Amino acid sequence: MKPDHVADDLKNVLMSREEIDQVVRDLAARIDEDYKGRDLLLVGVLKGAVMIMADLSRELKMNVSMDWMAVSSYGSGTQSSGVVRILKDLDTDLMGRDVLIVEDIIDSGLTLSWLVSNLKSRGPRSLEICTFLRKPDAIKVDIDVKYVGRDIPNEFVVGYGLDFAEKYRNLDALGTLAPHVYQSE
Ligand code: XMP
Ligand code: MG
Repeated sequence: MKPDHVADDLKNVLMSREEIDQVVRDLAARIDEDYKGRDLLLVGVLKGAVMIMADLSRELKMNVSMDWMAVSSYGSGTQSSGVVRILKDLDTDLMGRDVLIVEDIIDSGLTLSWLVSNLKSRGPRSLEICTFLRKPDAIKVDIDVKYVGRDIPNEFVVGYGLDFAEKYRNLDALGTLAPHVYQSE
């Protein structure tokens, strides 16, 4: 079911709130198991990962620390270029830490690939990636992603943290946009 206030803007709903919750529970169970007894730092990538970070962290049955980074990737139009600028850096020293990057979506993978090498250079004990969504058909670089919530088709999606022109982040479902929305921009 499309939420009423965006019914005209969405082409279809890819994941309902219930499906999202199940994906988050499954990710959390794996992370709980893998990091048992360790001191985990979750690094959320602003702004898209806010929802997955909030839900995933509360689903975990362990103490974690959380920090945030904001990056912007330069590119033409909607394509990311892999040239990244840090808008907000971490407050936490990563030296010797077990670090898990929490992402909303991996598209080309260029942004994340840059982020991984940047964070690796700070000397963490371990560094892994958890992404809510991945578009396998869009990937351009080889990155090792340990936790993937759901693979989706190569279409622009919004909701659950993901935006189009800063809109739709607060939808509790995940949907694809109707063409009239992006064609009118
Ligand atoms: P790359 O291509 O470097 O880009 O993996 C990842 C970032 O691009 C944004 N992105 C999207 N945002 N719906 C969105 O709202 C999408 O379908 C989408 N695909 C990529 C997002 O910010 C992600 O972190
Ligand atoms: Mg983003």
